[in-house]
Amino acid sequence: MNRKHVPVITVDGPSGTGKGTLCGWLAKRLGWHLLDSGSLYRVLAYVAATRQIPIDEIDALADAAHTLDLSFRKDDELVSVLLSGKDISSEIRSEECGNLASKVASIPEVRTALLERQKAFRKLPGLVADGRDMGTVVFPDADLKIYLTASPEVRAERRYKQLKDKGNDVNVAHLLREIAERDLRDSQRQVAPLKPAEDAIVIDTSDMDIDEVEAEVMALVKEKDIV
Ligand code: C5P
Repeated sequence: MNRKHVPVITVDGPSGTGKGTLCGWLAKRLGWHLLDSGSLYRVLAYVAATRQIPIDEIDALADAAHTLDLSFRKDDELVSVLLSGKDISSEIRSEECGNLASKVASIPEVRTALLERQKAFRKLPGLVADGRDMGTVVFPDADLKIYLTASPEVRAERRYKQLKDKGNDVNVAHLLREIAERDLRDSQRQVAPLKPAEDAIVIDTSDMDIDEVEAEVMALVKEKDIV
């Protein structure tokens, strides 16, 4: 049977580069599905913290990854993350959860356990996939691969504004340290390290606002005749 090709656009890169905003916008603009793969690692980190599973209990973590009762609820542009029906969207967005997610994500068994779950998001009319290894590991045959970067200082500043707007008490120097730590862990891990795919188009967003990034990516989508 000749199965219909399901197009995928991958957007990888470190946090604070505008990936999440770009992917949400792009999925809405194209009317495609959206995979925020970081949320899977964050949910697993949340589960590990609440069930007090130590980070070196690899079997228990992989088992939790296999059995996560996870669903997503979409209300216009906002996607809520539900664990066994409970909305844990704000809990998993904390810096603490992001850091623990990066530790959980460095375990190969966990990545394998989450692989099929991520691939299952690929459905017609198409998928926008946001992560670290979308173009290199999960969807190597993607139709368009984007890799966003920005200087650590700009990313810390953006994250600072986001957290401050949500009423959190944060410190830029501390955020910068955490970002550097997380980058190092994500890019040096043995499995699926953070790096651009060979055929990815790299966009440095340090001096760009989100409208410019969106326009540049949309131009690429048109140039490649994806829609
Ligand atoms: O993108 P986000 O900040 O939500 O991701 C949290 C962590 O999950 C990242 O720091 C990274 O370690 C991990 N992650 C990953 N692979 C992905 C997405 C996220 O390893 N595809």
